[in-house]
Parts: sequence; C-alpha cells; structure tokens
Amino acid sequence: MKYVAGITGIGISLPERVLTNFELEKMVETSDEWITTRTGIKERRIASIDIAASDLSTQAAIEALSMAKIKPEEIDLIIVCTVTPDMMFPATAAIVQNNIGAVNAAGFDLSAGCSGFIYGVTVANQFIKTGLYKNILVIGCDILSRITNFNDRNTCVLFGDGAGAVVISRTEDEGIINQYIKVDGSGGAYLTLPAGGSRTPASFDTMEKGLNYTHMDGAEVFKFAVKAMPDAVNHILENTGLNILDINYLIPHQANIRIIESAVKRLHFPMDRVGISIDKYGNMSSASIPVALYEVYKDKKIKKNDKIVLVGFGAGLTYGALLIKWLI
Ligand code: COA
Repeated sequence: MKYVAGITGIGISLPERVLTNFELEKMVETSDEWITTRTGIKERRIASIDIAASDLSTQAAIEALSMAKIKPEEIDLIIVCTVTPDMMFPATAAIVQNNIGAVNAAGFDLSAGCSGFIYGVTVANQFIKTGLYKNILVIGCDILSRITNFNDRNTCVLFGDGAGAVVISRTEDEGIINQYIKVDGSGGAYLTLPAGGSRTPASFDTMEKGLNYTHMDGAEVFKFAVKAMPDAVNHILENTGLNILDINYLIPHQANIRIIESAVKRLHFPMDRVGISIDKYGNMSSASIPVALYEVYKDKKIKKNDKIVLVGFGAGLTYGALLIKWLI
C-alpha cells in the first residue's frame, strides 16, 4: 500500500506588540534607513513576557486543526520545531498536546534552527508514508526576543517572535512531493546560543558576558545562505525532473531580503512569485516559512494544485527545501 501526505490545514499566531525600527533607534546605535536597506525589515512582533512558545504554538495549532477539520484526538503526532522551547524539558510538544487535548498523540521538539519547519514537515511525511500515522501537527515557533541581546545592534534588529502550524494528513493526492535536508556542522560556530546547555551551563558569569544570547557572524551566515538555498532548490528540481519555472511560488526563509534576492537571482526565478513577509515580522526562525506560506494563501496568491517550494537555512548550519502541491 502506498501512502502519501499533504497539508490540510494551516494556522498562525503573532504577538500583538509591534517593535518598529524607529523604536530600535532609541535602544542601539542604528537607523531605520540602515535596517531597511541592509535587511528589508521595517518592524517585528515581540511576545509579552507572560507568553511562551507553547502559547503561540497552541493558538496556531488550533487554527490549523479547524481548517483541516480534524479533532485534537485524531492527531497522532505533534512536532514542535523550535530553538526557544518553554524550557529544556518537558518538550514544548508535550505542553501543546495537553493544551489542545490531543490525547492520542506522541510528541517531541525538533531543533534545526531556522530550517526547523522544513525538517519537521520532512519527518512528518516519513511517518505518513510508512503508514504508521494519519494526522500530524507540525509547528514552527520561536520567541527569539528571549535570546536576543537588545544592546547588540548586530543581532537585535533582525529577530522577531511568532508561530505557524500545519496539519499534515494522509491524503489521496500527493501534497508533499519531495524534500532535501542537510546539515554542515563545520559552520556551526557562526550562529550559536553559547550558554545554557551542558557545555556552558547558565551562570552569573555567562549572564554578565551575554552568552545566554544569540551570537552570530552575520557575514559568514550570509555567504552560506546565498549558496545553500539555491543548492537545496536545485536538488529538489533534480530529484523531480522539474524546471524552476514549473514552480508557481517560492517561500524562502525570511532572514534578510538581500539573501532572498540573491538566492532567487541565482535560481533565475521571478521575484513576483516569491513570498515576502520579512518587512513586517523580521526573522522568526522556524515560524518564518509557515507564516509566509499562510499569508500568500490568505492573499490568494496561491491556489489549489499549485507547486510551491519552501526553502530555508539556519543554525547548524542546516538547510533544506520541500516541494509541495497545495491541496487546500
Ligand atoms: N545598525 C547600524 N549599523 C550596523 C548595524 C545596525 N543594526 N549592525 C551592524 N552595523 C554595522 C557594522 O558594525 C559594520 O560597521 P563597521 O564597518 O564599522 O564594522 C557595518 O554596519 C557593516 O556591517 P556588515 O556586517 O558588513 O553589514 P552587512 O551588510 O553584511 O549586514 C547583516 C549585516 C547581519 C544584516 C547581514 O550580514 C546578514 O543578514 N547576515 C545573515 C544573518 C542571518 O541570516 N542570520 C540568521 C540566520 S537564520
């Protein structure tokens, strides 16, 4: 028996609080002009202190379930892709499972940096293909403001908070057609959260040195990303025998508009078929791709049976791409 999977529901959750470039001008030595021209970001959302990853994840999941017309008890597995879980354990997936009453589900968190959502959908697809599961929730959620140093202008202008969730179900028509995921650990040092793990546990010293915040070599990550994204997309095209122009829409990870433009140019793909939401939300790590996908769907830029490529990169350094057929 051959089983196939597709996205049957999608939902998002974004904090209400908007942090503009003009507000950041008052916090660090930067300008709206610098941030806009160097990154494409105008504003980002920031979760209030009482909101954790499981809260945004739960809201996004409820909307996705409602669109898919799936009851929580029909969910077999919950995968929360995040680098900002509520706590190290229990997994955020366990908290979401309890929040939504998914009484028959397994659950775990997946750590693949900003490629998390690509990895999560890939994993979910395998569970459906083996026939083991019928309905899986994949949630990309990050509250990056909690691990961002708002005294460091190199990083604090880039990041934001949000969540996006999809229901992946066993479907008649194949919706998740191809995937390619990779990791290159040799570049791991370019994007890290140095303290708080078993190598360097959190302490007063790590707090003082700012090691509990994201550290990044922006130029190195930039160089990696502009090659990795086209590379992942080209693997998908090779695997499926498709031409880039057979793709109706491209949804890239939203880290920097210049990275997106450079990758899209290398692929010889038209920018007017690329999902862009970085101006409003900045980089929300695992949430960026599902949120951008949700918006192009709500804006009616994609329609049923369209071929869409999702592509991302992130801490690891990870990267990957998915080819989906839109079934909604
Ligand atoms: N405001 C004003 N100036 C800033 C600034 C800010 N927010 N951040 C950095 N600068 C300064 C730098 O200090 C540097 O000054 P210097 O020349 O006096 O040292 C100057 O701007 C240029 O820095 P540079 O690193 O060359 O800028 P850039 O054009 O490469 O842009 C990034 C920097 C971080 C925006 C860019 O490298 C990037 O987006 N990298 C990828 C990051 C990423 O994707 N991370 C997440 C991965 S999932």
